[in-house]
Amino acid sequence: MPVSSTTLANHLLQQQTLHRGLTHELSQIIGHIALTGKVIGRELTEAALHGALGLTGETNVQGEAVQKLDERANELFVQTFEGQGGVVRAIVSEEMDKPCEVGGHAGARPGEHALFLDPLDGSSNLDANMTVGSIFSIHRVQGHVQPDVETELLKRGRDQVAAGYVLYGPATVLVYTCGAGVYQFTLDRGIGEFVLSGSRLKMPARGKVYSANESNYAKWPRGVQRFVDYLRDKDAATGRPYASRYSGCLVADVHRFLTGGGVYLYPGEISKPEGKLRLMYEAAPLGFIIEQAGGLASTGTERIGDILPTAVHQRIPLIIGSHEDVGKAEEFIQDRQ
Ligand code: AHG
Ligand code: MN
Ligand code: MN
Repeated sequence: MPVSSTTLANHLLQQQTLHRGLTHELSQIIGHIALTGKVIGRELTEAALHGALGLTGETNVQGEAVQKLDERANELFVQTFEGQGGVVRAIVSEEMDKPCEVGGHAGARPGEHALFLDPLDGSSNLDANMTVGSIFSIHRVQGHVQPDVETELLKRGRDQVAAGYVLYGPATVLVYTCGAGVYQFTLDRGIGEFVLSGSRLKMPARGKVYSANESNYAKWPRGVQRFVDYLRDKDAATGRPYASRYSGCLVADVHRFLTGGGVYLYPGEISKPEGKLRLMYEAAPLGFIIEQAGGLASTGTERIGDILPTAVHQRIPLIIGSHEDVGKAEEFIQDRQ
């Protein structure tokens, strides 16, 4: 028996009557993201058969090697929204140096939202056939076009109107929030629909697992090192040592913790204090989801949602997960332990 018969489309229609923040336009945007996620998911399953794996030879604005599928996923999102005649006004993407303004149909009023995307997160996993995801964040923007679009797009995470991700694992899963709880949908390939598989998700206040690229240990500030040492120490009363799991895909690791609790960290390094992950399309959207589920997202000294970005591709240190685990990390980083 299926766990539910509520499709994403039906759910969004129902929620529009219950939650003022979920407007018709926002529902449309989430619907188009879901459609793009289905197409990306399908292309991922057959990429190796069509020579679509591997590098393009290009480097993106982040200075990172671009995979062919990074570029393809970005192209699919842009095509979808360009085909929708300006339902979003602008797209900011990890794979595009500058925000892309999306034109509307002639005479139509401009879209009132901007979409921030990590089209494929964890793309270094692709060649090994491991999990990847797409992350999205949606902000409301002014209806009229400003000459300096980028400045207009610099919004705090706490002002997001919706955020979510699609995870391409053994199942394709879509998770979203628009500030009224976190909902999860699983793709039923037989009917081609995302079907509701979790409502108002809440995560445990503390977990048993942590996730970090520990090869960077020697480069971390002392407080971060001490926190990780603490997680690895033996103490039956607090369930330590925690188990270590690191997939190389932020969204997969965070999804694990949304489900079962725990803490993910990608801290800054002494010589690179800004860290690696991007604020507007990695840290902020995942922070919105995790905090809606009762968790926390922090730099170690500041809530992710409180930070006013200075650039659309800004990087930020990230500690995200169960409330008590992130709180404990903050104690070590702020030298209160
Ligand atoms: P992306 O593939 O979008 O560039 O993101 C990769 C991110 C994240 O998914 C992952 O947790 C982290 O970078 C992995 O970085 P390291 O290889 O440095 O551990
Ligand atoms: Mn990423
Ligand atoms: Mn990416």
